[in-house]
Formats: sequence, C-alpha cells, structure tokens
Amino acid sequence: MIVKIVENYLELSRLAASMVTKEINNCKSLVLGLATGSTPEGMYAELVKQFKAGNLDFKNVITFNLDEYVSLKPEHPQSYYYYMKRHLFDHVNISQENINIPTGCSNDLYKECYEYEMKISKAGGIGLQILGIGANGHIGFNEPAEALSVNTHLVKLADKTIEANSRFFKSPDQVPREAVTMGMGTIMHAEKIVLLASGTGKSEAIKQTLSGRLTTAVPASLLQLHRNVTVIVDREAAALII
Ligand code: PGA
Repeated sequence: MIVKIVENYLELSRLAASMVTKEINNCKSLVLGLATGSTPEGMYAELVKQFKAGNLDFKNVITFNLDEYVSLKPEHPQSYYYYMKRHLFDHVNISQENINIPTGCSNDLYKECYEYEMKISKAGGIGLQILGIGANGHIGFNEPAEALSVNTHLVKLADKTIEANSRFFKSPDQVPREAVTMGMGTIMHAEKIVLLASGTGKSEAIKQTLSGRLTTAVPASLLQLHRNVTVIVDREAAALII
C-alpha cells in the first residue's frame, strides 16, 4: 500500500482527481468504480473543473458505483443515483448507458445483485476503484462482521453507519436500514484502488486499515492484500499513523 499524507481536504481532493484524470487520459477506455459520501465530493468538484477546462473526456469511461440504499428511488435527494448526478454526471460528457449504479428498488434484489456483478465482469472488471471509509472501517457498505461477502449483495447497515449517515436525512429514522453493495471480492478484483480519508473521525479506522493485521471487524484491512492500493489521507485522518 502506498500512503500519501496531504495537508488538508483540498489537497486530498486535488490529488485524487489528478489520479483519476491521469487514468482516464492514459487508458483507451476505463471502467471506473465510484464512491459517494462527503469524502469524494471535493474530488468530483475538481474533476468537473478539469472537464470544463478541457483536460478530461468521459466519452470512453464506464462507471460502476459501489452501493445504493434499499428503497430509495433514483430521484430521492439522498439516493446515491441522485448524488452522482448532482456531483458529477450532470456536469460531464458521460453517456447515460455507461453509468451503472446498483438499484435499491426492485422486487428481486438478489437477482439485481447477481446481474450487477455480471455486468462488472462483462465490462472487464473495475480498472480504478475509488473508496471512502466508514469510521467503523467499512468500505462500500461492507460492514464489520464475522464473515464478509464476496460479491454484490444485500446488507443490513450497522447502527454506527445509520447514525453517521443520519446527517444527510431529516431524522435518523428516515435512514434506510439496508443497502446493496459491491462485495469485498468485487472491490479486491479492481486493478487499482484509491482510498480517501479525511478528518479525525477516520483516524482510528485508518490506523486499523494499515495495521498489518487482517480482520473482518475492519473490512478495509483486507485491502492490505491488494497489490495496487493508494491511501490518500489528510493530516487529521493520519493522526494515529504519524
Ligand atoms: P463519508 O462516508 O465520506 O461521508 O465519511 C464514507 C463511508 O462511509 O464510506
């Protein structure tokens, strides 16, 4: 794992965006795995800036998002579909048919999960996967558990995640209790991974992620087995590793 410690959130966002830009510009076509949450917002703003400056072309980019809440329709302001449109897709030249986000609204979510996984495989797997990290060490919505799932699956959100994400909703009881998420295998099969963490709230999770020990209690710690992971952390998130 390569760990890059930067001064602040702006630097983190710029560095992450420059890595994505480089990857898009160096590849004929790129399968890009995307994350939501507060952390990558600055990176998306920077990517939009680069696109508007003519430095970036999404024509040959296919995206797959990590996860989506169960029961939120795409037009719900807190759905990850809506988030992606607001922060990136509405501002760049990506074709609609190249956008993939798990659906959380279906009578057969198991089938949807299987099909999502197949779609990623057919696209040739993820080339570059962007990840945030939960304060509890989750990646995507792979929550700490005795056993983790390999493929895209339905998951019950941890109480800590519901509490953390309630800041985006009017009240905690409006936060969906379940989500669909890529599995640990889906993520680990990505060719390259960039994990972003900002703020003191992530410092313990980052310490555990880089600890040299693997545990399903900290799903991100499994990234230590991957050959090409860059962890970008600001000083606050790096507080317990420096
Ligand atoms: P955050 O979420 O970027 O909003 O902190 C990250 C995550 O839960 O994976």
